[in-house]
Amino acid sequence: MDFPGSAPASKLPQVGTTIFTEMSALASEHGALNVAQGFPDLAPPAALRQAVAHAMESGANQYAPMAGNIRLREWIAADCEQRTGTIYHPADEITIGAGASSMLFAAIMALVSEGDEVIIMEPAYDLYAPVVRLAGGTVRRLERNLPDYDLDYQGLRTMLSRHTRMVVVNSPHNPTGATWGREDLEELHRCLDGSDAIVLSDEVYGPIVHDGREALSAAHHPALAARTLIAGSFGKVLHATGWKIGWLAGPAALMAEVRKVHQYDVFSTGAPFQAGIAEFLSQEAGQTHLAELASTYTALRNRLCDGLQDTAWSFAPAEGGYFQVLDYAAFHSGSDQDVVRDWTRAPQGIATIPLSSFYDPSHPLRTESTRIRVCFAKQPDTLDLAIERLRRLAGS
Ligand SMILES: Cc1ncc(COP(=O)(O)O)c(C=O)c1O
Repeated sequence: MDFPGSAPASKLPQVGTTIFTEMSALASEHGALNVAQGFPDLAPPAALRQAVAHAMESGANQYAPMAGNIRLREWIAADCEQRTGTIYHPADEITIGAGASSMLFAAIMALVSEGDEVIIMEPAYDLYAPVVRLAGGTVRRLERNLPDYDLDYQGLRTMLSRHTRMVVVNSPHNPTGATWGREDLEELHRCLDGSDAIVLSDEVYGPIVHDGREALSAAHHPALAARTLIAGSFGKVLHATGWKIGWLAGPAALMAEVRKVHQYDVFSTGAPFQAGIAEFLSQEAGQTHLAELASTYTALRNRLCDGLQDTAWSFAPAEGGYFQVLDYAAFHSGSDQDVVRDWTRAPQGIATIPLSSFYDPSHPLRTESTRIRVCFAKQPDTLDLAIERLRRLAGS
């Protein structure tokens, strides 16, 4: 259909279809195994599915409150207090939205204005930068330090200015799996102390940490928490990304502004999902699921890493989250952008995500990177097939 007027100027001229959508479409076109997009193929727990079905049957089918189901907000507050010691008031410091995405969006739109700078640590999840631009802000990109993708505090100190409105952090990190330690929280606090910067802490993979690491949140550091909005996702922790239920917690003064955007953007979301999740988390089954979450994913990460151990793939096992970065420099040249597309189209192919897609399109890594991201939130059989195909690529 032709639009009869003149086309509106694009607010996001640099943005096209995301690499995640593209790779999933290419995988289905060519019948490739899809370990690209970040969703689990593990089923949500049966007791959770039943609780949601029960919520629907018992009438939780109209708008949930704008800020979210109060039982679920109370659970988030209690869980956060128990894990970190920091108290968030469910009435005005926690909001539930359509996935963490909608709350990250609302936070940036509400708090970033024309002329504000937002520091994003690359490689970075793809949502932050376009939303900063929509809000009229300027993106300042700071690279994480190789080889471990640690945060660059020296760089952060240099980049901070009186224009810095927000610093976006993400741990466990998508795509690299890097996690922060207690000293990172302290260092981040020291860097920002005395400034007006707000921290937006994307903690959607929060409880998923490997090898006995501590599942740390910005809320573990009270002074840092006072300037921080924390985003969480029930999609990620309950193997239910399609339900799109996420949350944001932070100081009331910031949350009041975020809710002004949320109420005209999402307003209210998934009433029976919120009610069912609140019920499930109050049950022993819910507590058991959360307690076993990290070990479930560590076992899958180990399966993938063990399967590639004696091959030409090089990697450091992910510290958290459910993605593993793999480097093919030892057996293949060519940019990750070309390579992942070739490997997806190949017979018995495999779809992954090029790591360079998590950097600005003008970054030299777009043509130089030899790293890919594999999602290991998959059934053991799917992972075994992925291992077989990845081994074949490496000539093993
Ligand atoms: C780092 C990060 N933040 C946010 C999200 C979005 O979470 P949700 O599905 O709850 O909107 C994702 C999803 O992949 C993610 O990886």
